[in-house]
Amino acid sequence: MENPNIDEAKRRAAAAAVKLVMPGMRLGLGTGSTAAQFITLLGARVAEGLDVICVPTSERTRAQAAALGIPLTAFEDIDELDLTIDGADEFDPELRLVKGGGGALWREKIVASASKQMVVITDASKAVTTLGKFPLPIEVSRFGMEATRRAIAKAAEATGCAGAVVPRKTASGEAFITDNGNYLVDCAFNAIGAPDDLAQRLSAIPGIVEHGLFIGLATAVIMAGAEDLKNFGHLE
Ligand code: A5P
Repeated sequence: MENPNIDEAKRRAAAAAVKLVMPGMRLGLGTGSTAAQFITLLGARVAEGLDVICVPTSERTRAQAAALGIPLTAFEDIDELDLTIDGADEFDPELRLVKGGGGALWREKIVASASKQMVVITDASKAVTTLGKFPLPIEVSRFGMEATRRAIAKAAEATGCAGAVVPRKTASGEAFITDNGNYLVDCAFNAIGAPDDLAQRLSAIPGIVEHGLFIGLATAVIMAGAEDLKNFGHLE
């Protein structure tokens, strides 16, 4: 079960983020337990009459938002979003993120990249000095998976990282399949000393659909500590 203090911190960060939502906004909805708290609170405001249009980053998020009556689109009617609210597995002092623990990183990155602002909501456990303690998720094509795993290890080595590149499994031991029909691998690098360099090298590997390093995307982080809220970056 979720630690009640962490759960409460996620709720407070989500509540602060809901205050950023203005009528008429086009929103990106993240994936994960923290984003789910935001969607619940947003749903309550929509029920009170708030007018927004939202792009979900996963089928899970789509189902939750639809059940709450939140208006959804998949970019059919809009080409840019005002604000995306999402969680993260880690963030560093430069607001670089590791994402993908929930398996939705590709759509999360597409949505964040289409947003004027990306505000990350977290509890304090996600703040790190160096990224990498959380295994880096990478979405990979099913075809050539082994070749891609080897290419990832090589790219990592060139940036001073090492560690197992492990195919993700479901709780019942099956291969984890993303909403897009691809596999995921989790890279146990422990410390990613040069995230920008690693991100560039990973992006150049053909079998990689997308990696979980989010660089230059988060404009702010709202982090809920035990009692207080801290903001990093720029909140409009
Ligand atoms: C989903 O793919 C991830 O990027 C999530 O944003 C991340 O795993 C954070 O999830 P929690 O809010 O559940 O910790």
